[in-house]
Amino acid sequence: MSTLKAVRGTRDLLPPETELWSHIETTARNIFARYRFGEIRTPIFEDTQLFARGVGEETDIVSKEMYTWEDRARAQSEKAQSLTLRPENTAGVVRAYIEHGLGDTGLLQKLFYIGPQFRRERPQKGRYRQFFQIGAEVIGPPSSGSESPLRDAEVLEMLAALLDALGIRDWKLLINSVGSKEDRPRYIELLKAALKPVVGQMCVDCQRRAETNPLRVLDCKVPEDQSIIETLPKIWDSLDAGSRAHFEQVCAALDACGVSYEHDQRLVRGLDYYTRTTFEFVHRIGLGAQNALIGGGRYDGLSELIGGPKATGIGFAIGQDRLVLARGLELSEETWSSFERLADVYVAPIGEALNAKALALARDLRRDGLRVELGDGSFKLKKSFETGNKLAGAIVLLGEDEAASGILTVKNFSTGDQQKIRREQLAEHLRSLSRT
Ligand code: HAM
Repeated sequence: MSTLKAVRGTRDLLPPETELWSHIETTARNIFARYRFGEIRTPIFEDTQLFARGVGEETDIVSKEMYTWEDRARAQSEKAQSLTLRPENTAGVVRAYIEHGLGDTGLLQKLFYIGPQFRRERPQKGRYRQFFQIGAEVIGPPSSGSESPLRDAEVLEMLAALLDALGIRDWKLLINSVGSKEDRPRYIELLKAALKPVVGQMCVDCQRRAETNPLRVLDCKVPEDQSIIETLPKIWDSLDAGSRAHFEQVCAALDACGVSYEHDQRLVRGLDYYTRTTFEFVHRIGLGAQNALIGGGRYDGLSELIGGPKATGIGFAIGQDRLVLARGLELSEETWSSFERLADVYVAPIGEALNAKALALARDLRRDGLRVELGDGSFKLKKSFETGNKLAGAIVLLGEDEAASGILTVKNFSTGDQQKIRREQLAEHLRSLSRT
């Protein structure tokens, strides 16, 4: 029989790498708390319409990458429904914001999430079909200050602080403005007109995008197309005074707190809901083609697009798989090996008759806060020592004599010292060993 494997584009995360995953999540939670973000957990699947309307029918995500299925009705009272595994979480958060009337408070809502997303992309290093995002959204009615450029700058400054806290140095922040919903159609018309005479010389993807989503032509990475793209009109020239001033104020606030950035006029991003500020944090080494660590931007019309009240906002999502890759590159051997966390002690019963007493001893030591690995009385002494040496810093032997006398033999694996310790002093003794 053939063996079953994880589905293409998905993978198992195993220790010790999972230690790094939790370290990153804990650091993110700590930083988010300082900015008063609260956690939101939305369902992993949603009505397909949410993404079709929110992210946009013409985007790559919706047109070819979603995991969608027809969910059959199981009772007369139910209707069949098209459902989709979430390819991203901004649409879900804004749906929840609308559904729970979060805007009614009149206050800014600051929500973060950590979880899996699903896109049927071509798998490669840093690109998976199930991947993980750590994201956050700042959204509220315009009266809550949600439209202010200060919100954009604060989110970007928070991300710079998070990358610093994680010890990731080689990042670059690219920002741009894609304009308001009035600016954009104006620019797209100009772009279409400019593309008409030249698009025949461009790659097939650009030829398709020129029809379906012309902004994405700016994103093309094909070397032969670059000289043509350089001649296309710049979005900045189509922005109205309000959009320009907004962008300039974001930049001024970033300058004031020393966050460096680069204005990348070609940064358009692959989701349709963006207005004004868009950004990406790219990592300069090691990630190859998948160098975007974080993507985000403003989505001032998204709530209305999915049937909600006017609610302006900005957010981002960090690709956690990529962040782990980038962080892993900068970790020393020593830090990696510290993730292989050893137990403080290996409790070795000598003979199966001592198993039950060994469990009680392990329970007591764990109650004292020690990390304990429990062996098995069926093991020969030699095997207990060998196993203990792999898993723990010390071994405690529990045989008939030790159980009767209350005096236990402890061997410290790192020094080779062996000592007799009274049961009452055992926890303290082991603690002193794990400190050395
Ligand atoms: P996005 O740019 O599609 O934006 O994704 C954000 C990040 O998720 C990317 O920069 C990348 O690091 C990671 N990512 C995306 N696709 C994959 C994949 N197949 N495998 C591994 N990592 C991937 C969004 O998702 C928006 N919802 C961000 C946002 C939040 N905008 C406003 N609020």
